[in-house]
Amino acid sequence: MNAPITERTMRTGRCEMAWLEAGAGWPVILLHAFPLSADMWRPQLEAVPDGWRFIAPHFRGFGGTRALAPGGGGLDDYAADIGDFMDSLTLEDAVIAGLSMGGYVAFAMYRQAPARFNGLVLANTRPQADTPAGREGRRAMRDLVAREGTAPVAAQMLPKLLSARARSEDPEVAEYVRRVIEGADPAGVGAAIAAMMERPDSTPDLPRIACATLVVAGELDEITPVADAQAMQTAIPRSTLTILAGAGHLSNLERPAPFNRALGDFLLARL
Ligand code: MLT
Repeated sequence: MNAPITERTMRTGRCEMAWLEAGAGWPVILLHAFPLSADMWRPQLEAVPDGWRFIAPHFRGFGGTRALAPGGGGLDDYAADIGDFMDSLTLEDAVIAGLSMGGYVAFAMYRQAPARFNGLVLANTRPQADTPAGREGRRAMRDLVAREGTAPVAAQMLPKLLSARARSEDPEVAEYVRRVIEGADPAGVGAAIAAMMERPDSTPDLPRIACATLVVAGELDEITPVADAQAMQTAIPRSTLTILAGAGHLSNLERPAPFNRALGDFLLARL
């Protein structure tokens, strides 16, 4: 049976925070990809395992979360928002799970407060900073979203976010992702682009990650390929790697059942 998902809001020190939540028990914070929202975690929220509380915040500028004041810039703001949100929920620590941009934010959170990590899940993400060519692409996308809004961003990103398999065999998922992106606030998308292009290289941090870590890769992921996930996993001491067959970049949406199994097994081992 699908667990009920509640949509909640709260004013924290830094944000008007909006999030989705399901289940009760040990907390897991689910950090979403770009340019989506916490809604992308619905297949995981619906399947929350007994004894766990899944909490999926929208980042600032996405899905109803608004920063109360401009930050210093960069993904450190996004990470500090989540730390502050955890304070407001009186959560000292949690398993932190990030997919793609969510993983970039998790790296920034780890630098800010490693003791808050009861475990780490890095799905379809990478530690490296953007390359010069990548930054050029970000600038072009930032200009595009400022000029024309989120629809052309959705058109440009969909073929990279979802595998060709999912786009042809699973039109409902493709339509869902398009709707979530098109519904995003162009200002929030632009700010996230600016933050991601400034992010530092997290590779030197990997050997210092002390908590148990699950790395998830999608066999067909073109943005963060399996080989990169393997290299990242090798550098993190207490880590394991799960490769999801037939999954592209948004592996949790393309292959929810095996994603949920991998996450559930990892969480079970934390109890
Ligand atoms: C994401 O899925 O969050 C993005 O593809 C990350 C990125 O653009 O680097």
